[in-house]
Amino acid sequence: MTDLLDHLRTVVGDDHVLTEPADQAAYVVDWTGVHAGRALAVVRPGSTDEVAAVVAACHRAGTAIVPQGGNTGLVGGGVPDAGGGQVVLSLGRMRTVRDVDPVAGTITVDAGVVLADVQAAAERVGRLFPMSLGSEGSCTIGGNLATNAGGTAVLRYGMTRELALGLEVVLPDGRVWDGLRGLRKDNTGYDLTQLFIGSEGTLGVITGAVLRLFPATPRHATAWVAVPDVAAAVALLGVAQEHAGAHLATFEIVNRQALDLVLAHLPGAVDPLEAPSEWYVLLELAGTGTDTGLDDALEAVLGEAVETDLATDAAIAGSPGQRAALWALREGISEAQKVEGATLKHDVTLPIARLADWVAAVGQTVAGLLPGVRPVTYGHVGDGNLHYNLSAPLVEGRSDDDALRSAAAGLSAAIYDAVAAGNGSISAEHGLGRTKAAAAAAYKSDVEVDLMRAVKQALDPGGLMNPGVLLPGA
Ligand code: FAD
Ligand code: MLT
Ligand code: ZN
Repeated sequence: MTDLLDHLRTVVGDDHVLTEPADQAAYVVDWTGVHAGRALAVVRPGSTDEVAAVVAACHRAGTAIVPQGGNTGLVGGGVPDAGGGQVVLSLGRMRTVRDVDPVAGTITVDAGVVLADVQAAAERVGRLFPMSLGSEGSCTIGGNLATNAGGTAVLRYGMTRELALGLEVVLPDGRVWDGLRGLRKDNTGYDLTQLFIGSEGTLGVITGAVLRLFPATPRHATAWVAVPDVAAAVALLGVAQEHAGAHLATFEIVNRQALDLVLAHLPGAVDPLEAPSEWYVLLELAGTGTDTGLDDALEAVLGEAVETDLATDAAIAGSPGQRAALWALREGISEAQKVEGATLKHDVTLPIARLADWVAAVGQTVAGLLPGVRPVTYGHVGDGNLHYNLSAPLVEGRSDDDALRSAAAGLSAAIYDAVAAGNGSISAEHGLGRTKAAAAAAYKSDVEVDLMRAVKQALDPGGLMNPGVLLPGA
């Protein structure tokens, strides 16, 4: 191993091969704190050529690689296992925006560029890169592509795979595939770009990407709407689509438990409505500089919603500051729940028509398994995607984290069974990582798992790319 480390130092420089535990600390524990491993080294290449040389050296040495971007993943896919023999390959130094073409509507970036920096580069040329996540100040485009991230703009613009036109990837043997063509039309065989998207670092290291840009949407009409239940929220989506059409950009649901945690733990957070409600929707319309009818459309949505008892109250943002405050209530939930105590995350999708019944039924199930458990239910209801994240019961006002941890396996199994029975997916947007690899394989057919293993075997026969992630035992 000394030979490998010496060689890696010649490739990337001594300062970028981290072997001391203190230097590695930020790279070996995930955002949730649930997954903590040890690494042989954290290696920080500065270019695609350096990534290729690092991967080739690890391939020759038979050393496994864990690609890592911003380390904001929520399923333990970007951190090493406990063995201490894996190399974490961090893309954190590869932060160059290579090209922006507003007319073609494309931006070409290194994989280590932070999502917020891609958004800013697009804005500088009067365009929009629409992907938006609570973690956008830290997560990288490489991580977004590797997880096929979702977020709050999927309703209008789609998941990451719909925003990518081409990739550059270092393959497990160190060869580089240059697929940065950026063509909208290219029917020349298997779609390799789409194969690597969502592969969670198990098929290669993404080093660059061509992404799609859209017309900028500087106009917004935003409301925080109190709704009686999930069924009303889903019905409100239909009303919003009817009145706002393509301007409907965001439709997020938040339960009272989630709002309570934000109000308790987010400095400055204020409930925008006087009376409490069990459920809320954050609804936003977005338009270009010439779209002047957004406020009227929002009024029409809310007017019909109140008339038909789909909404009981609403706060409309009257300034950019008020808009930011409403968004902070939504985007602060993950952090607030983490401050509260242990969190058992579930990131599920169901056919949207089944969501209301599913939430009611699974609520009873989890309460039966762990009395007092607190479902913090929120997320991208417009996409049929709920974050059904459980907080521990309160005992004398404190989060009983041990109780949640002891019940975790049974709770997750029951939730996944309910998802499967409802024809849904146990991972809507965060991926499988280490947390859900085994569960996902158990719910897929043998044919589907065989096909996935065949792809893995074809691209990574040595099993050196992120072993244990996405596919159990691979
Ligand atoms: P990492 O965490 O570093 O890695 C994630 C996975 O991608 C790992 O398997 C890793 O091996 C692989 N990977 C990383 N970079 C590369 C690369 N260059 N090549 C190959 N593989 C690579 N996710 C959503 O989808 N929607 C949300 O709304 C959302 N909100 C979030 C809010 C908060 C507060 C937090 C903390 C997370 C949220 N996430 C969300 C999860 C997370 O931010 C996303 O999964 C994001 O895409 C991960 O990017 P990253 O750069 O941090 O990747
Ligand atoms: C979000 O949409 O805020 C995150 O994906 C949810 C989470 O942190 O579980
Ligand atoms: Zn989400």
